[in-house]
Amino acid sequence: MQFKYFIGIASVCTAVLLSACNGDNSSSSSNQVQEKPTLQPIVIQGALPVESERMAAKLDNATVETIGGWKFWKGTYKGYPVVVSKTRMGMSNSAAATALAIQHYQPIAIINQGTAGGHDPDLHVFDIVLGKYTTNIGAFKTPHKPIGGGSNALEWNEAFDVLPDDESDPEPIAIRKFEGDKELLTAAYKAKVNYTKGQVVEGVIGSADTWNNELDRIKLFHTVYGTSVEEMEAASVAQIAQQFKVPFLGIRVLSNNITNNGAYDPATGEACQDYALDVAEQYMKAKAAK
Ligand code: 5AD
Repeated sequence: MQFKYFIGIASVCTAVLLSACNGDNSSSSSNQVQEKPTLQPIVIQGALPVESERMAAKLDNATVETIGGWKFWKGTYKGYPVVVSKTRMGMSNSAAATALAIQHYQPIAIINQGTAGGHDPDLHVFDIVLGKYTTNIGAFKTPHKPIGGGSNALEWNEAFDVLPDDESDPEPIAIRKFEGDKELLTAAYKAKVNYTKGQVVEGVIGSADTWNNELDRIKLFHTVYGTSVEEMEAASVAQIAQQFKVPFLGIRVLSNNITNNGAYDPATGEACQDYALDVAEQYMKAKAAK
């Protein structure tokens, strides 16, 4: 290769690289590159490998990072920056993973997705619930009972707000509902047309470090708090995201529903990951167009 020719190629490459670094998508140069504007990544969480690894495998140019017990894959999906986060199960793990992700990646938004158990007999395995609201169904103040008085969770009618506005009240009694972000919901509706395995509906996601199998208790959550599904992470993530003012949406697929004999199906975890990636793409597309 002639030296002159090499210099020519090198300078074109440098120009492309520089414009990529600057996030410069002006079209003044003769070497027009179809570039997407620079956006902060969207974080998509899944608690278990079966709820996160399929998304991670679909990222381009992925790098893996482990912080403490939490794993993050950073890459791009359809050209948009995405971080997939394996939060592990439960409220504490998901809160920690969320705080770490926000500090480390400064995400534009967070989607918490994965499997859930149905509280609504009209919903079936493979249906997806978009969290119009996400709420903690594990925080209660119980009635007083003497020793020997037993315990009956159906009598626990005072929900405990762990994020009260008035921090001087040591016993804040209120049910806190975290509202799903409107732009994420809009993206979820755009992605809905591609989801053929079940319905996609708006609803209330209830979270606690509990797997409820008592049908009376499930019915109480459904009728008193309006829960559509239960799982173990979303409300905890919403609670952290709200305090950092990061837009949040919970997206949950029913993997089981004992209210209508819906047997557990592990394939639901993969279906929800595909849908969540689709939602992320729609959200980033709308953001890039702004
Ligand atoms: N109750 C509670 N959590 C459930 N999950 C799936 N179905 C249920 C259910 N019926 C999810 C939780 C947790 C793991 C056990 O699966 O979010 O991560």
